[in-house]
This record gives sequence, structure tokens and C-alpha cells, in this order.
Amino acid sequence: MTQIFAHRGYSAAYAENTMSSFVAAEKAGADGIEFDTQLTKDGVVVVIHDEKVDRTTTGSGFVKDYSFKEIRKLNANKKGIKKEPIPSLEEVLEWLKTNKLICNIEFKNGLIPYEGMEEKVVELVRKYDVADRIIISSFNHYSIVYNYQLAPEIETAPLFIEGIYMPWIYAQSIRAKAIHPKHSAVSDHIIRMTIENGIEVRPYTVNRGQDMRRLFNVQCSAIITDDPVKALRIRKEYEKRP
Ligand code: G3P
Ligand code: CA
Repeated sequence: MTQIFAHRGYSAAYAENTMSSFVAAEKAGADGIEFDTQLTKDGVVVVIHDEKVDRTTTGSGFVKDYSFKEIRKLNANKKGIKKEPIPSLEEVLEWLKTNKLICNIEFKNGLIPYEGMEEKVVELVRKYDVADRIIISSFNHYSIVYNYQLAPEIETAPLFIEGIYMPWIYAQSIRAKAIHPKHSAVSDHIIRMTIENGIEVRPYTVNRGQDMRRLFNVQCSAIITDDPVKALRIRKEYEKRP
């Protein structure tokens, strides 16, 4: 059965990358969550998509220029009523211990290299003993290979926007167990071939019903979507089939 990962949590209905959006995804029945990580000035791994806090919070400037104490004062739910802080990765992993969700941590270290982020993430994953439910992905493939070298017990998956030739060969060559392509970058044939060759396929960001149906039909490993409730409803149609 195709798994459903909530992209930045249940971000179609809650502020992205907040504890509320993760908790709502879990309550809705998603199989997993996806979120993005950056590093503060004092080296704390925090959960936020952009290098700058401007779009999603009440603050302005780069994440890397805030201490954790300072960044926690910002409101990551600026369109909502209830104030919510930017979560730390540690906070998310602590909560993850209370449920069975799969957790896809995307390293946002393509523009800013965030030296030491891999080590810090590995340390936290080991501290909370959740390696079997973690997938590390990134557009920075050097970083996920480095993460694999540090912690081969943690699954890695390269993200890509464009179609690449025989992606399973590439995934195998960097010891990744999966690929996370943009959904329009993989045909049904490529999805089937990749899975047949032992590599999972989890396309992003799948929000339209017709795209969800295509991927459920082809028995894709997982989809990453802003709307896990819609995806769960559509997936039910496929569960009823013999
Ligand atoms: O992990 C898949 C997807 O989240 C990658 O793109 O920009 O939404 O982080 P973006
Ligand atoms: Ca992401």
C-alpha cells in the first residue's frame, strides 16, 4: 500500500513545519511526516523551510543569525490565532517517541552548508533511538552521502527535480534506499523499474487528486502531500479493490 507522508506536516490546514501540523497529520492517520531543517547561530537544529524566517514567521533575517533562544520567540503561526514557536528537531523527535510515524528529515543545506548539521542530527536520532523510522533526504546529495558514512543505519534518499536516467542505479551507487523525485519527473515505468530494483519511490508534492490516483494505481512506495486527509480518502478507494 502506498504510504502517505504529510509535507511540512498537515500544511494544507495548519501552519507549515509546526508541532500543530505534525500532530494533526498523525491524528488524521498519515503514515509519516516530512519537514525541513536549518541550523541556528548556536548550532541548534530547527524545523523551518526557508533560510530566512520572513515568509513563515513574524521575524526577519536568516535563521543562521538567530540563537535558539531568540528564534523561539518568533511566531511560526502568523496567520493563526495561537502563537507557535519554530520547533527544534529534538522536540519533534521526543514527540515521535509517542507514536509510530515515519519521519522524513529534509536537510535544507543547499544554499548554506551548515557545517556539522549531519553530526547533530545523527546524535539526536541515536539519542531518541528512532533510526528505524527516519529517512534523511536532501537536494544536497553530498550531505546525504556524508550522513550515510556517519550513520549507515539511517536511511537516505536523494531529492531531485528533473528526471534522471535509471535513478535506481544512481541511488544504489550512493547507498540510498529510496529516491524522492518531483512527481512530474517520474513516469509510471520509471517508478515500477525503480521499485523492482529494490529502491523505494516517494514523489513530492502530490496535491491534485489525479496525481494521487496515478501514484496509488502504480503502487508507488509513498507520496508526500500537503493534504494527508484528501490522500487518505482517495487511497481508501484503492484499499477496497481486490
Ligand atoms: O521533501 C520533498 C519536498 O519537500 C522538497 O521541496 O521545497 O517543499 O522542501 P520543498
Ligand atoms: Ca521539504
